[in-house]
Amino acid sequence: MYGFSYDGNLLHAEEIPLTDIAERFGTPCYVYSHTTLSSNWRAFKNGFAQRDVTICYSVKCNSNLAILSALAKLGSGFDIVSGGELQRVLKAGGNPRQTVFSGVGKSEDEIRLALKSGILSLNLESEAELARVQKVARELNSVAPISLRVNPDIDAVTHPHISTGLRESKFGIPIEDAVRIYRQAFTQDCLRTVGIAVHIGSQITSMAPILNALEIVIDLAEELQKDGMPIEYLDLGGGLGIQYQDEQPPEINEYCSEIIQLLERRNCDLKIAIEPGRAIAASAGIFLTTVEFIKNAETKNIAIVDGAMNDLLRPVLYDAWMEIVPVELDNGSDEAIYDVVGPVCESGDFLGKDRPLTIRQGDLVAVLNAGAYGAVMSSNYNTRPRSPEIIVSGDRLDIIRARESIDQMLELESIPEIYRNQSF
Ligand code: LLP
Repeated sequence: MYGFSYDGNLLHAEEIPLTDIAERFGTPCYVYSHTTLSSNWRAFKNGFAQRDVTICYSVKCNSNLAILSALAKLGSGFDIVSGGELQRVLKAGGNPRQTVFSGVGKSEDEIRLALKSGILSLNLESEAELARVQKVARELNSVAPISLRVNPDIDAVTHPHISTGLRESKFGIPIEDAVRIYRQAFTQDCLRTVGIAVHIGSQITSMAPILNALEIVIDLAEELQKDGMPIEYLDLGGGLGIQYQDEQPPEINEYCSEIIQLLERRNCDLKIAIEPGRAIAASAGIFLTTVEFIKNAETKNIAIVDGAMNDLLRPVLYDAWMEIVPVELDNGSDEAIYDVVGPVCESGDFLGKDRPLTIRQGDLVAVLNAGAYGAVMSSNYNTRPRSPEIIVSGDRLDIIRARESIDQMLELESIPEIYRNQSF
């Protein structure tokens, strides 16, 4: 079996019933499908088969070492936004030469680590950052490979918190400043100007804004070329959306072929890099949680589950709709409409609202498409240990992050001696 599907009455992760996983590891937990993860990655690779492409998986969406290592084995590159993510990539066996470093606030230490590791490109988001990179590169006596991340002023038509391509956003260098800054960069011995990068947002569900951004970077590449400043590749960022509810995003192969067509139409034979995150990892994961209590409040039914906003923040942070399904179908209970909420003391602590479900106390439910921006955004709010992560491949099951213990959560805190003194 492939991914997450029902076999008879029971939801499975590939060959393994989720009831077995819950029994063995407890809930709440994240469960990933290795097959779905790899086949999503391969869909991008195959989609660009005719082009020289580097797929830089966006580490931020699921940075578990096992996930990075699985993708590194397939030949993936990586898109990182911190020194911590770079260390994960290196530890997971990822290739720094296929790794791009984005983000608006890279520290000197992070730049140093990136240059020493030999990364493919620092994607720079301001002139001040360019100056900082020059300083560090000179100190190290090295040549920094750079791209400018341009801001094309395009509306990605997505949630404002995940929209990055508009002029007023903090991301990227305004497109009209790009040529001037490239010119300046080209004169510096300590810089090698390798690419142009663009990323306009996330959960984009139509090709139009993506293609508009591509047109703009092709224009820029041509202009640079004409001015004697050839670059090696275009980095088109990530952002391809998935279907959570009734969105109809392009399929991965459609996304690739529309990009290829536009490149061909424009006679652009530059190499390509892309930075997909969600479209690779989201459908490869679910969040598994148990119904602790059913509360029949006056106006609605409430299902209180053991997973909460500290485990899965997307619903409250972006008002994101994520599908919730029972692990066991036909359990004999009647369908009713529920708000599915967690135990955290906040009204915003919900996983879904107004969901028709057949559930009883003690049942397992799964939140689907939780493989991206799920575990990575979890916290210890309410002193709740972060959930374990498990990966399934066929009938093989591996735990790839243990459940945090209370001791681990408290480990970095200390009580000053003075507070132990009663007279204080
Ligand atoms: N490249 C850059 C420079 C990015 O900022 C991002 C995402 C990506 C690539 C990957 O985008 P993707 O292919 O995953 O859409 N936490 C939010 C999403 C934040 C996206 C941040 N940047 C959510 O849960 O919806």
